[in-house]
This record gives sequence, structure tokens and C-alpha cells, in this order.
Amino acid sequence: MKFNELGRALQIAALIVGCSAPGHAETGSKADFSRPELEAKLAYCKTCHGLSGQGFRGSFPMPRLAGQQPEYLENQLQAFIERRRMNPVMFNVAHVLSPSMLTALATHFKDLNPRPLGGAPKELVAEGKKIYEEGVPRAEVPACANCHGPGAKGADAFPRLAGQLHDYLFRKLVNWSKERGQDRAKPDNSEIMAPIAHNLTEAQVRAVAAYLSYLE
Ligand code: HEC
Ligand code: HEC
Repeated sequence: MKFNELGRALQIAALIVGCSAPGHAETGSKADFSRPELEAKLAYCKTCHGLSGQGFRGSFPMPRLAGQQPEYLENQLQAFIERRRMNPVMFNVAHVLSPSMLTALATHFKDLNPRPLGGAPKELVAEGKKIYEEGVPRAEVPACANCHGPGAKGADAFPRLAGQLHDYLFRKLVNWSKERGQDRAKPDNSEIMAPIAHNLTEAQVRAVAAYLSYLE
């Protein structure tokens, strides 16, 4: 991607991410739940997402939530509720959460810091690092680091990718447009990632996912 094209992509990204802010649950809203209720809910999340939110491999991969940016996490819960992001399990989990509970859950996971689960083929890591840091210019894929940060820790609405399960990352990127942004009347931040996910080959996705899965 040429420099000015990338600049424009980032401008659009900033615009979309910025515009979505007023739609969030009010962070200042008064808690309508007790401490034990919050603890019980967290214990429930962790039956699938792992004891320290490190992710879990069952019959399919449950994503890591530990260290995730609260704003991104809240955005996703909202997207499941509004069926902009399609996932039957998480719709059922999320639609019963009050806005203030949603915010409390998102804040909790930010402070967890378990070791990554790993498990990806190590021989793909070097190629994945290159894609992460430089993008794939001939396929108009910008460097992932431009938005997700040099250490893949994310910021605000840009998710952390460091330590995420490689098989989860693979599935999300190859199925992007089938699962995210499913309400045309309500475009969201998933649009920013759509062309990027689309322009990567499966082999490139595998490599970048392997690299990210080992990052602490
Ligand atoms: C029954 C299992 C189960 C439970 C319980 C559960 N989740 Fe999930 N969660 C999943 C699965 C499976 C996915 C992956 C969905 C996908 O592939 O799109 C997911 C995805 C997510 C995502 C999106 C992650 C990302 O990186 O985009 C968030 C956020 C999330 N869950 C939060 C929670 C919270 C908070 C709770 C507790 C209130 C919870 N989950 C309880 C199974 C579960
Ligand atoms: C122009 C900014 C931008 C660039 C460049 C970018 N991303 Fe993203 N990415 C985003 C945004 C914004 C989201 C959140 C989308 C949402 O909220 O639906 C995201 C989400 C993701 C997710 C979903 C995370 C999850 O937990 O489900 C993955 C995976 C991802 N990006 C991988 C990549 C990879 C790999 C690259 C480089 C090849 C990349 N991104 C480059 C902005 C970007």
C-alpha cells in the first residue's frame, strides 16, 4: 500500500473508531449489581475463557480475554447483543448483561496477565513477525502494528492480539465478513479490518496468527 493510501486508511480508521464512542455503555453509570453477582458472572465467563482469561481449547478455541482493551471488549459484547457479530453462544451470554455489568466485566479482564497458551507451529513465527511489522505491500495489506501497536497490546477500540490463540485468530480472520458487520444499517469498526482480512492468504493468516500467539 502506498504511503498516502495508508494515511487515508488510518484517517478513516480514526474517524470510525472515534464516532463509535457515543454508542458505548456509560462508564460512569451506577452499578446495579452486587460484588457477589459480579464474582459469579466472572466465574461463569471463566468456565469457557479459562481461569485467568487465558483462553481455552475445547472442541473449538475460546478466545483469550486477559489483557484485552476494555473498550474493544465492550464493543464486542454489544455487537453480539445486537447481532452485528454472529455467535449463538455469546449472544446468549451477553444479552442478559446490564450496561454497568458489561463495563465491570470488561475492566476486570484488562488486569489479568497469564502466559500465552502457545501451541502454534514455531517455523511460521518469523514470517508472521514480518507480516505483522511490515504488512504485505503487494496485496495492499498495511502493517498490523500501525493499528494494533508494536507489541500487539492494542489501544481503546483496537484489540490486543498478543497471546491470542492462534486457531481462534485463524478462524476469525478467514471468516471475517461472514461473522462481523452483519447489520448493514449499522456499520461498525469491523469495516476497518474487512479489506485487511480479505487480502491475506490462508498461509499468511496462519503465519501471523502463529507469531501473535507467542507474544506476552
Ligand atoms: C459457554 C462458553 C462461553 C461462556 C460462558 C462465555 N463465553 Fe465469551 N466466547 C465464547 C466463544 C466460543 C467465543 C468466540 C466467538 C467467536 O468465535 O466469534 C467467545 C467470545 C467472546 C468475546 C470476543 C473476544 C474477541 O477477542 O473478540 C468476548 C469479549 C467474550 N466472549 C466475553 C465473555 C464474557 C465477558 C463472558 C462472561 C459474562 C463470556 N464471554 C462467557 C464462549 C463463551
Ligand atoms: C487500519 C487499522 C488496522 C490495521 C492496519 C489492522 N487492524 Fe486488525 N483490527 C482493527 C480494528 C479497529 C479491529 C476491531 C474491529 C471490531 O471492533 O470489530 C481489529 C480487529 C482485529 C482482529 C480481531 C481480534 C479478536 O480478538 O477477535 C484480528 C484478529 C486482527 N484485527 C488482526 C489484524 C492483523 C493480523 C493485521 C495485519 C495483517 C491487522 N489486524 C491490521 C484495525 C486494524
